[in-house]
Amino acid sequence: MIRGVNSAPTKALLSPKKASAKGALNLEKQQTEVSESANPNVHITVLLNEAVQALAIKADGVYVDGTFGRGGHSRKILEQLGATGRLIAFDRDLKAVESSKEITDARFSMVHSHFAGMQAKLNAMGILKVDGILLDLGISSPQIDDASRGFSFRYDAPLDMRMDQSSGQTAADFLADTTEQHLAEVIKNYGEERFAKQIARAIITERNDGRAITTTGQLAKVVAGAVTRFEPGQNPATRTFQALRIFVNQELEELSLTMPQCLALLAPQGRLAVISFHSLEDRIVKQFIRDQANRDDLPANFPVRAADLPQPKMMNVGKTIKPSAKEVKVNLRSRSAVLRVAERTNVA
Ligand SMILES: C[S@@+](CC[C@H](N)C(=O)[O-])C[C@H]1O[C@@H](n2cnc3c(N)ncnc32)[C@H](O)[C@@H]1O
Repeated sequence: MIRGVNSAPTKALLSPKKASAKGALNLEKQQTEVSESANPNVHITVLLNEAVQALAIKADGVYVDGTFGRGGHSRKILEQLGATGRLIAFDRDLKAVESSKEITDARFSMVHSHFAGMQAKLNAMGILKVDGILLDLGISSPQIDDASRGFSFRYDAPLDMRMDQSSGQTAADFLADTTEQHLAEVIKNYGEERFAKQIARAIITERNDGRAITTTGQLAKVVAGAVTRFEPGQNPATRTFQALRIFVNQELEELSLTMPQCLALLAPQGRLAVISFHSLEDRIVKQFIRDQANRDDLPANFPVRAADLPQPKMMNVGKTIKPSAKEVKVNLRSRSAVLRVAERTNVA
């Protein structure tokens, strides 16, 4: 279920930390990918070996792929599992779920759900603990390349943008209802778009003049008229499309709700591997792991013995992993990917 699509952005969304220059660049790169994807209906899995290796698969373990997509990571995990191992995959996209039927393997189960429903769904299946969880965030190439999904300004199509087309409001529904101020906040906070106010005003003016925005083509045109400066080679609507997609799918809220569930679900020595594609989501992952892993927030002379302090529930595993130059050459979409890995400790 998509929650609160019409509600005001959450506190975290209203006042995000300023994106770093590097973060902004990453966002730009991910958005540019939308216009550079070359191969419709195929998703090239990003950081395939690195992400699966990071899970340190135990042959008899229970693993979760929270973002099945077209199953690249899932297939690799299954290759490494033994006969008694288990993999439960999630995706909120019905086409992804449909594509999972190609995998006929008794060790594999597919669940149509947003990943923030992970703990409830697993518990309902009798699974209380797992040995590893993988999240490969964002959208897949087949989603971008299917014109009817409304994710891309490359095609003129109904402005949908829902990953789960079975529920929630479309981007067009949101634009039909929202206020100018709320829209400007969404475009600014999720798109890091400096012309957010002008774009919001242009969209609402169109609507008030009886030309509600219902297609990707209309949206791209109105945004282009409101943006006076943009990066060379980038479509002026790139950041607005990105912002609406993140908002419609509540992507950051999903991630924030899921990280504590991963902590609760992971058995001792269980691994969490998360691939992010822009700074807004990577910041949530990084902060969560940091909060569990250390106590940097305590003053140096805090009057408590180290042994009496709460012990870390998670440890960072290695440094962040990025795709090799070779991978980026083969799959341009991978270039902004960042993989973070953490391990659950024994601390309850
Ligand atoms: C980048 S693709 C994953 C690709 C996959 N690792 C592969 O190798 O094919 C992301 C997938 O996650 C799904 N997704 C994104 N956010 C989700 C969420 N909150 N809950 C469930 N699925 C989500 C999307 O529908 C999409 O299919």
